[in-house]
Amino acid sequence: MASENHYVVRTDDVRKDLQLGEVTVHAVRGISLHVQPGELLGIIGPSGSGKSTLLGMIGGLDSPTAGRVYIDGQDITDLGERALTRVRNEKIGFVFQFFNLIPTLTAVENVALPIQFARNRKHNPTRRAAELLDLLGLDERMHHRPNQLSGGEQQRVALARALANDPPLLLGDEPTGNLDTFSSEVVMNALRTVQQELGTTVVIVTHNMDIAAQMDRIVSLVDGKIAEDSDVRSSARLAAVKEIRTKRETGELSPFMQSAQ
Ligand SMILES: Nc1ncnc2c1ncn2[C@@H]1O[C@H](COP(=O)(O)OP(=O)(O)OP(=O)(O)O)[C@@H](O)[C@H]1O
Ligand SMILES: [Mg+2]
Repeated sequence: MASENHYVVRTDDVRKDLQLGEVTVHAVRGISLHVQPGELLGIIGPSGSGKSTLLGMIGGLDSPTAGRVYIDGQDITDLGERALTRVRNEKIGFVFQFFNLIPTLTAVENVALPIQFARNRKHNPTRRAAELLDLLGLDERMHHRPNQLSGGEQQRVALARALANDPPLLLGDEPTGNLDTFSSEVVMNALRTVQQELGTTVVIVTHNMDIAAQMDRIVSLVDGKIAEDSDVRSSARLAAVKEIRTKRETGELSPFMQSAQ
């Protein structure tokens, strides 16, 4: 499936109209977006500009009124609920503003859970969960329950859980929206680690300009359209990340990787 024209996310003139009583709200008004493997992309824009609506369509949580959405080369626009659920489970990890961890389970149990339920289980659940938590700097917090963790730690557990089944794409809607400056920075560093160590493509909506400034590319929305698309990543970094992903897919590199060798 990997080719020159392979995008992890591609939308073609995607639109979403929402009906509010008599009024039709044009939440997303024709967005064509291409995201390459390994990009770390931030979506910014004023409240109501359509960020969450766009992310929902990319994540297969919501279907477009017009236009098409492709994830990892697959057209998901007209898929039914069962097929969409499968795409979401296999291709996409989600993180949100609130962490939604299961309060009675420890960090490692929270992360292991989606691996236990995976159709094609690729990993030993507990071992994989521990590796991911370790990667995100939580090796000392494995057996803590959510209420024994700080906000930034909880969000990193949620991040590890989103990555548990190794999706090519991670989507976040305001993943630092509920965190203080320090914790936001910690989570941002974790996202960078995920991009660089796992080769995951990361697309997040953020209001936090300090976070946005650290992205490789920023797409800003105004009124349901792309107002600006600034691409500041270095092509060398992107090539390196692509190589990691390819090597991992061909089994040449284990997920937990170079430094461990
Ligand atoms: N279920 C809905 N019914 C009607 N209108 C909606 C619905 N959901 C969102 N909208 C409208 O669609 C537009 C885009 O909303 P969206 O939530 O995508 O904005 P956003 O950029 O994520 O804003 P914020 O930064 O406040 O989260 C807004 O005008 C909003 O009022
Ligand atoms: Mg929103």
